[in-house]
Amino acid sequence: MIRLKIDIEILKRLERSIDIYNPENGEVPIKMLGFGEISLVFELLDDVEPIAYKRIPIFDNEKQVKRHIWAYNEYNRILDQEVGLNIPKYDVAWFKDDEDKIQFYCVQEKISAESVGNRVIHQVNDDDIETLVLLVMRELKKVWEYNKNHETIDLGLDGQISNFSLIGYDPNNPKIDMNTKLIYVDTSTPMFRKNGVEAMDAELFLKSTPSFLRFLVKAAFLDEVVDRYYDWRLVTIDLIANFFKEQKSELIPRIILKVNEFFANEASDFEMEPITFLEVQKYYKNDKMIWVIFQNARKIDRFIKTKLFKKRYDFYLPEKIKR
Ligand SMILES: Nc1ncnc2c1ncn2[C@@H]1O[C@H](COP(=O)(O)OP(=O)(O)O)[C@@H](O)[C@H]1O
Ligand SMILES: [Mg+2]
Repeated sequence: MIRLKIDIEILKRLERSIDIYNPENGEVPIKMLGFGEISLVFELLDDVEPIAYKRIPIFDNEKQVKRHIWAYNEYNRILDQEVGLNIPKYDVAWFKDDEDKIQFYCVQEKISAESVGNRVIHQVNDDDIETLVLLVMRELKKVWEYNKNHETIDLGLDGQISNFSLIGYDPNNPKIDMNTKLIYVDTSTPMFRKNGVEAMDAELFLKSTPSFLRFLVKAAFLDEVVDRYYDWRLVTIDLIANFFKEQKSELIPRIILKVNEFFANEASDFEMEPITFLEVQKYYKNDKMIWVIFQNARKIDRFIKTKLFKKRYDFYLPEKIKR
């Protein structure tokens, strides 16, 4: 871990005044860089160094925070030093706010927004997109190669295109070749198991689930959702299914061909079953349905908390996303 220049007082001020419906309209000027199920990723406009903050509002006590920091550091260290992925410089920041609630951020050196995969695929040609997928597959291979060679450790990774950024990408001259290097940014959810034991407390994932659904999600989906990130084939299907969401479904057949060719040649010792279009399509439909139900439930939860009970709601929920 490298200490980045973080001003806790500004973060405290931000938490006091954050408008979770419109995070950019609060008293402390921020710019959103992205968001996920639980995290809001932003930069502080007054920061001198370019830093990305991933706000992760899921912790109830210090014990959970300590465990998470341990898992986060270990996950980043392994990816960086043992697996050989490029990751941004990383750090954490946390404090107890005025109401004694824990506010926690994963902090990273900021990378340019234009160089992130889901932006890049809308700027380059189809051949370059195919090259990008192949480059991502090579990064994934490093992870599952590591898993193969380490009996007691299992690493998971989220292979979505939005988790990779291209080094040296020039938006004014957008192109990708086989020598382009990638950075993996989605390191805030430490996914690894030592002797089969999840390093992170997986139930913390449930914190973004409305309480009226928690028991159901825990019983029905939690293991499945977490397991998915440890299975290279499923991670790859998820990566390919991204292209439905990105409105580029016409590319999916050739991407599947490319990926299957990769499995057969460069990763033959994994003896991977070829991926089919139907499989990707089915996965996408299922995933989309779960996501829509979940998003609507969260909006109801937010309404109940903020409008009826005048309480605080911790998570940022995006408006309609085209999927
Ligand atoms: N270090 C960073 N610099 C700039 N943007 C980032 C950085 N890390 C993440 N982002 C943006 O935020 C998005 C979500 O971040 P990510 O780490 O993937 O979190 P999640 O687990 O919520 O997917 C990314 O797809 C990217 O667009
Ligand atoms: Mg991500």
